[in-house]
Amino acid sequence: MSISVAIDGPSGAGKSTLARRLAAEMGFVYVDTGAMYRSIGLFALESGIDPHDAAGVEALLPQIHLEARPVPGGQQMLLNGRDVTDQVRREEVGMAASAVSALPAVRAFLLDKQRQMAASQNVLMDGRDIGTVVLPGATVKIFLTAAPQARALRRQKELEAKGQPRPYGEVLADVLQRDEQDSSRAAAPLRQAEDAVRLDTTYLDFEESFARLREIICRRAGL
Ligand code: DC
Repeated sequence: MSISVAIDGPSGAGKSTLARRLAAEMGFVYVDTGAMYRSIGLFALESGIDPHDAAGVEALLPQIHLEARPVPGGQQMLLNGRDVTDQVRREEVGMAASAVSALPAVRAFLLDKQRQMAASQNVLMDGRDIGTVVLPGATVKIFLTAAPQARALRRQKELEAKGQPRPYGEVLADVLQRDEQDSSRAAAPLRQAEDAVRLDTTYLDFEESFARLREIICRRAGL
């Protein structure tokens, strides 16, 4: 039986950076489900379809082939054979991803793919609905969160480091808008699974968060 670790939480809580490093250390495959939603968002933008247009986006799905390929230290995202790993990180693609992820047809399109990835290998899967919908029987479930202000500050620093500085107020407004969109949608909204361990990183730095996460996972998975 393979081991699956579900890590859910709002955007900017540090899920992907922490999960990627932990997966490498544990020898697990890291699955970034957000990158899959981002790829569909990117495809909609490139096709000139409004990501909020349910019928328009649904009609695109048969043209989309996604492959999330494990690579050392992370995941390579292929959209119709094209490497979009870096491109999907852009801000406007994140917003498009948030819009398409509210559509039930899009969620259904990705569900089997995500379950299959966890069926045959040890995975650390990061998303919003992994513990509640995708892998309800996951070996360990974590709900990783932090106050919106802390997440906005981290995001602002990241953008600054990338040479794309933005005012704090704008970044915080984006964080709050994304939280609202991800938690208020009808289809698989962001919420903590009843049996998930909550880890709040508001007052923890990266190394502290990493140590706590590793400790919880190892204890719960009996590793
Ligand atoms: O984690 P991220 O920022 O890359 O996710 C991008 C968007 O995709 C986010 O706004 C919510 C959505 N998402 C989702 O609905 N379900 C998931 N399992 C992962 C991401």
